Formats: sequence, C-alpha cells, structure tokens
Amino acid sequence: MVATQSSQLAVLRRTSTARVDATLAALFDNRQAVAPRLEAAMRHGLLAGGKRLRPLLVYMAGHALGAKDDALDAPAAAIELIHAYSLIHDDLPAMDDDDLRRGQPTVHKAFDEASAILAGDALQALAFEVLSSTAHPRLGNLVYTLAGASGRDGMVAGQALDLDAVGGHPDVDALAHMHAHKTGALIVAAVRLGGLVAVADDDPRLNALTRYAAAIGLAFQIHDDILDVTGDTATLGKTSGADAARAKPTYPSLLGLEGAQRKAQSLIDEAIAALAPLGERAAPLADLAHYMIERDH
Ligand code: IPE
Ligand code: IPE
Ligand code: MG
Ligand code: MG
Ligand code: MG
Repeated sequence: MVATQSSQLAVLRRTSTARVDATLAALFDNRQAVAPRLEAAMRHGLLAGGKRLRPLLVYMAGHALGAKDDALDAPAAAIELIHAYSLIHDDLPAMDDDDLRRGQPTVHKAFDEASAILAGDALQALAFEVLSSTAHPRLGNLVYTLAGASGRDGMVAGQALDLDAVGGHPDVDALAHMHAHKTGALIVAAVRLGGLVAVADDDPRLNALTRYAAAIGLAFQIHDDILDVTGDTATLGKTSGADAARAKPTYPSLLGLEGAQRKAQSLIDEAIAALAPLGERAAPLADLAHYMIERDH
C-alpha cells in the first residue's frame, strides 16, 4: 500500500522530526559518558530512524490549541524517549524476541541483552529528566500524564497483557483493551501533553483530542498488525510475519485482513469526527489520522 499524505502534513512531519531529532541528539553532546557502552546502546535505540509520530502528535496537538514549538520540544522528546525504551524492551528475547528494528539489528543484537535492558531503563529515566527540566506552570500535570501512560495503567500494562495473550484466543474487546494500553496510552499521552502545554486540564478541547487519540491509537496498532501480515521486512524495517510466528492474537488473526482494515477505517472516521470542536486548526490532525492507516511502515 502506498503511503499518501498531504503536502502540509509532509512539511509538518519534516519540521517536527528535525526538531525532535535535534533535541534528542543534544542529550548526548558535550558530555563525558559515565558508561560509554550504555550510552552507545541508548543512542542505537533512540537516534537511528523511527517515524517520530508521537513527537509529531505533541507538536500538532499543541499547535491546534495555540502552543509554541519551544514549549513543545521537551514533551515531544520525552514521549519519544519512552517509546524508544518500550521498543528496545519489546524486542528482547523474553518479550517478542526480534532481531531487526528500524532497519538495524535490535539493541540486544547489536550490543547484548543486559545493555538493552539497561539502555531501556536509562531512556525511561531520561524522559522524565528532560520533561521535568522545563519550567512549565503545569509541569506536575505533564509529568503525571507521561508517567500514567507509561506504567501499570498504560503501556507496560498493555505489554503484560500482550505477553499473557500469546497462544490464546482473546475476543475482540480484550484485544482492543490490550491495544489501548500497549499502544494507545502513549498516543493519547502525546496529544494530551501537547494540549496541556497550551491549556488547563479542564479545557473541553482536551477531551476532544483524547477521543481523537484513543481512536487513532487503536487504529495505529491494528494497522501495525496488518502490516505484519502484508508488509515486507525491507520496507517495514522489522521482520514481517513475526506475530503469526509467535502466535500473537491480532486483529487480522481475529477478524481477517479485510475485517481488520474495516475496523481501522471506522476508527479513523471516529477520530476525525472527534476533532469537530477544534475547528480548522485541527485539519493537520485529520490528515495525520488518514496517514496512520495508509503508511507502509
Ligand atoms: C512501533 O511503533 C510499535 C507500535 C506501537 C506498533 P512505530 O511504528 O511508531 O515505530 P517507529 O518509532 O516508527 O520505529
Ligand atoms: C509494540 O507492539 C508496542 C510497544 C512497544 C509498547 P508490537 O510488538 O506489535 O510492535 P512491533 O511490531 O514489534 O513494532
Ligand atoms: Mg510486542
Ligand atoms: Mg514487537
Ligand atoms: Mg507489531
């Protein structure tokens, strides 16, 4: 499937990727590493490749509510740090046992398992260091949002459910619950972080953004599961067919490819409808919703 995106979205993707890449790279500049091999493993997992979609969501949600880029840089970097840590641990032999990520050997392959575990740990801590080093009036709220989405109520809980489900036959509701946690939680956090930079947490537009993000988050993981079936390893930058090989229950395994595609499309329609209270400023978020299920990797 060919990824289509509007030219405005393409420009936003380029500028936000450049901003977050600069913020992330600067975290490793001008410092004497205490443990050089650890930092090399962190850089490997963080800096090479990745679509940077969660930072893009921080910038786009922030812009939709009037935030400026300077105030969005730290939350954008923080969410990508959590995401990168989650991928490094996701690939470990005890979890999905994958050898390829972002077109490169996974961190435990390029280094070793202990380095991959520790690199993930350090990236997670660094996310909170970066976020909490800003001087935002709602900083406590920002940190709370990222922490809640990352741990036992969010991504890590979803990863635990994912591993529990291996070889099993959950129904579609159980699968949606798992996806909402392992993938949806960080996507919701990305838009909420961007929104919270601009407005207080009782602003009703944040609810609209949250509904949007929950829908695209689930659609994103459904599409990830679809690409695992339909994509090729070179394009994906990760080994295709890995879910079936590991007996992972997925939307395609439960509903078939077409059923999964229909579900993803209906979630995108739901996401776009949720943006109505934001008016024209949310147009790029609507474009991004389409891209979420049109992308080829
Ligand atoms: C992969 O996320 C893991 C999932 C939650 C499906 P991405 O597809 O955003 O991975 P990168 O960051 O572009 O490598
Ligand atoms: C990963 O889901 C979700 C997180 C890393 C939190 P997957 O296991 O499907 O992601 P890929 O396919 O390895 O990127
Ligand atoms: Mg996984
Ligand atoms: Mg995986
Ligand atoms: Mg996957």
